[in-house]
Amino acid sequence: MSELSVNHLLGIKYLKKEDVKLIFKTADHFKEVINRPIKKVPSLRDITIANLFFENSTRTRLSFELAEKRLSADVINFSAASSSVKKGETLIDTVNNILSMKVDMVVMRHPNPGAGIFLSKHVKASIINAGDGAHEHPTQALLDSYSIRERLGGVEGKKVVIVGDILHSRVALSNIFALKLQGAEVKVCGPKTLIPKHIESLGVKVETDLRKALEWCDVANMLRVQNERMEISYFPSTREYTQQFGLNKKMLDSLNKEIVIMHPGPINRGVEITSDVADSDNAIILDQVQNGVAVRMAVIYLLASKIKQ
Ligand code: CP
Repeated sequence: MSELSVNHLLGIKYLKKEDVKLIFKTADHFKEVINRPIKKVPSLRDITIANLFFENSTRTRLSFELAEKRLSADVINFSAASSSVKKGETLIDTVNNILSMKVDMVVMRHPNPGAGIFLSKHVKASIINAGDGAHEHPTQALLDSYSIRERLGGVEGKKVVIVGDILHSRVALSNIFALKLQGAEVKVCGPKTLIPKHIESLGVKVETDLRKALEWCDVANMLRVQNERMEISYFPSTREYTQQFGLNKKMLDSLNKEIVIMHPGPINRGVEITSDVADSDNAIILDQVQNGVAVRMAVIYLLASKIKQ
């Protein structure tokens, strides 16, 4: 397979296993490029990309911008907070105005699930979903799997537990799709109130005992409790959440094997994970961030190749 089966990256749900393989093979090349003294290739000199962020971001926004610049694309950045969205302009009007300035590709983070899918049906540009509400965060899941592959040599057959607020997490859903697509075994672990009903229909198992989950897994992906998406309390207190579902060094050291610790960031140190775990040799959290640039270069490059055809 030499090209993606999709024209947009709206979710992992729409990808085939071969797409993921192609993205990783391409990312391997770009990882080598960004470790050179001159970290840039001229591949996308003829492409203009708009980064549209309607929601806060540190890692994803900077990672996309860097990926685009490393590919020599022209880049414009839009933040909803300082835009005419505040004056009532619709999403489609906003994007069509930006596209009329000869923009080829849109990277969008939006608080509403399905915003990227909606946009892809109404505008003429390739859309990359940089996180849509509690729905999907496909490039995060790709960089997570890429980082597991780098640390453990592959994803197929690996046992991965995703711990925490599964209910509100786009990272959890995209990771479940990506890991299952590649043949990993997946469990989710957290308070029952933060695990969606019928999640087993996605082929994952539920474990509510963190110790059992950690003893089972090769990789633990620790998620943040997404207080910003909660209108009610899903557990008695943060202290009790941490006692039951927080990972500390004592527990990590008491396991009879080494496991890989992941976190998509931002971390709430001392809540879902203690500092000594986040900064330990088991953790690949900063590798995930570093790999994000190469993986996003691969996604952008492969989608741009389809625009150019
Ligand atoms: N992992 C992630 O999406 O982080 P940001 O919200 O900082 O982009």
